[in-house]
Amino acid sequence: MFAYEDAGVVGAKALPNKEKALLSAKLKEEGFKGGAKEVARVDLHLFGRNRRVFAVGLGKRKGAGTEAFRRAAGTLLGAVRAKRETLAVLCSENAAAIAEGLTLASYKYEEYKKGDEDKLTAAHLVIQDAAARAGLEKICAKAALYAEAVFLSRDLVNRAPSDKTPHSLAELAETFKGTGVEVEVIDQTKAMDLGMGALLGVGRGSAHPPVMVHMVFKPKAKTKKRVALVGKGIVFDSGGLSLKPAASMEDMKCDMAGAASVLAVFKIIARLQPKAEVHGIFAAAYNMPGPDAYKPGDVLKAMNGKTIEVWNTDAEGRLVLADALCLAAKQEPQMILNMATLTGAVVVALGSKVAGVMGNDRRVVASVIAAGKRADEAYCELPLVEDYKESIKGNIAELLNISKVRGEAGSIIGGLFLQEFVNEIPWAHLDIAGTAFAGGDYNSYSPKGGTGAPVRTLLEWLGAL
Ligand code: BES
Ligand code: MN
Ligand code: ZN
Repeated sequence: MFAYEDAGVVGAKALPNKEKALLSAKLKEEGFKGGAKEVARVDLHLFGRNRRVFAVGLGKRKGAGTEAFRRAAGTLLGAVRAKRETLAVLCSENAAAIAEGLTLASYKYEEYKKGDEDKLTAAHLVIQDAAARAGLEKICAKAALYAEAVFLSRDLVNRAPSDKTPHSLAELAETFKGTGVEVEVIDQTKAMDLGMGALLGVGRGSAHPPVMVHMVFKPKAKTKKRVALVGKGIVFDSGGLSLKPAASMEDMKCDMAGAASVLAVFKIIARLQPKAEVHGIFAAAYNMPGPDAYKPGDVLKAMNGKTIEVWNTDAEGRLVLADALCLAAKQEPQMILNMATLTGAVVVALGSKVAGVMGNDRRVVASVIAAGKRADEAYCELPLVEDYKESIKGNIAELLNISKVRGEAGSIIGGLFLQEFVNEIPWAHLDIAGTAFAGGDYNSYSPKGGTGAPVRTLLEWLGAL
C-alpha cells in the first residue's frame, strides 16, 4: 500500500477500523513518515490471515501526481521482488500509474547474463469497487503493452554496439511485417538510387553498410490522417575522423535510441491501433573512422538535393536524419516527429530528466509536450531562432553540419539544420541525448542504461491522434 506524508495510507477506508488503527500505530512505531522512496514493513492480521504489509511513501499529497505513484510502485516492486511470491497492491487512486510503475520496474537486461531470479510471479491490483474491475483490467493490459515497447527500446539501447549492426535492426523491423505493418529496407544500393548521400557519407567509415528502414502502419478503419516518426540510429558513435575522446565514447552505443523508439512503437502498433496511418523511418549506421571514412571538408548531397559541407564528422546524427526526414516528407504526412540523441549541449542545458523539443509548428510542439505530460516524460521547448540560420550557411555548399560560431546554442543549431529537410511539413524534433540513457541509477522503475524514453510519449501521442 501507499501512504502520503501528510494524508496517511491511501485507500485506508477499505480496511476495518481495528486494523486501520493497528496499521497506523505499527507504521508510526517503525518511524515511517510517508516520504518519497520510504518503505516500511509491518506484520498485520488482515482479511483473514497474517500478512506482511509493505507501505511505500508518496511524499506530500499536494504535488504527488501520477509520477509519485509510478515511482512508489517501482519502489514497492524493488522491495518485494526477491522476497515474496505474490503481491496484493491496494490501488484506490492512480491505478494506471501503479500498474505502469510495477510493470516498468520489472525490467532486467538479460541478453548477456541472467540476473537474480525473482521470487515474485504475480502482483494483484486490489480495488474496493467491483464495478471498476473491467476498467482495471484495461489499465493492466495497457501497462503491459506499453512495457513491451519500452522494454524493446531498453534492450536495443543496452545491447553491445557490435551486436546491433544496421542490418540486424532492419531484420528486426522485418519481423513486424503483417498485421497492418509493411516494411521496406533501403540498402546501400537503393539508397544510392534515391540520392541519400548524407546517410551514405556517414556510413562510409564502417565495414558494416548503413541502412534506411521504412515501416508503414495502416489502421483497420480507413483514414486520411498520416504521420511520420523518424529516428536517429547511430549504432555506435565514435565521432568518426573527428574522433571523440575515450570518455565521451563510452556510452555511445546509446546513439540509436531514436531508432529504438521507432522500432519499439512498431512492435506493438497493430495492438495500439492508432487512428492514423503511421510511417516509421529510421536511419542506421556506424559512425567510424575506417579507411574510407567521410572527412571534414567533404560535401554530401541529401535526398532533397541540398548540399552539406562537413566540418565535423561527429555531427553525424543530423546528416543521417537529413535523408530520413526527406524520405518522411516524401510520404506527405500532416505531421513529422523525429527522435534523436543529437547533442551533448541538450544534456548541459536540461540534464537527464528533461528532453529538448523544437519545431516549426506550435501545435505539433504543444502536442508533444502534452503527450509527455501524460507519460510523465518532461520536455522543454527550445526556440528555432531565425537569426542563427546564418551560422550554418556553407562556404562551398549550401549548409554546414556545425555552426561557424563555436560553443553557442548547440541544440538549437541541430534543430535548425534538421528543419532544412522537412519541406515545411509541421514537425517537431525531440533531442533525447540526456533522457534516453542513464549512466547511473535513474529512478525506481528505470534502472541504469536505456530508459525507454521517449517511447511512452510517442504511444500517448499516437493514442491521441
Ligand atoms: N551522439 C552525439 C550526441 C550525444 C552526446 C548523445 C551525449 C548522447 C550523449 C552526437 O552525434 C554528437 O556527437 N554531437 C556533437 C555535435 C557537435 C560536433 C556539433 C556534440 O554534442 O558534441
Ligand atoms: Mn556524434
Ligand atoms: Zn551521434
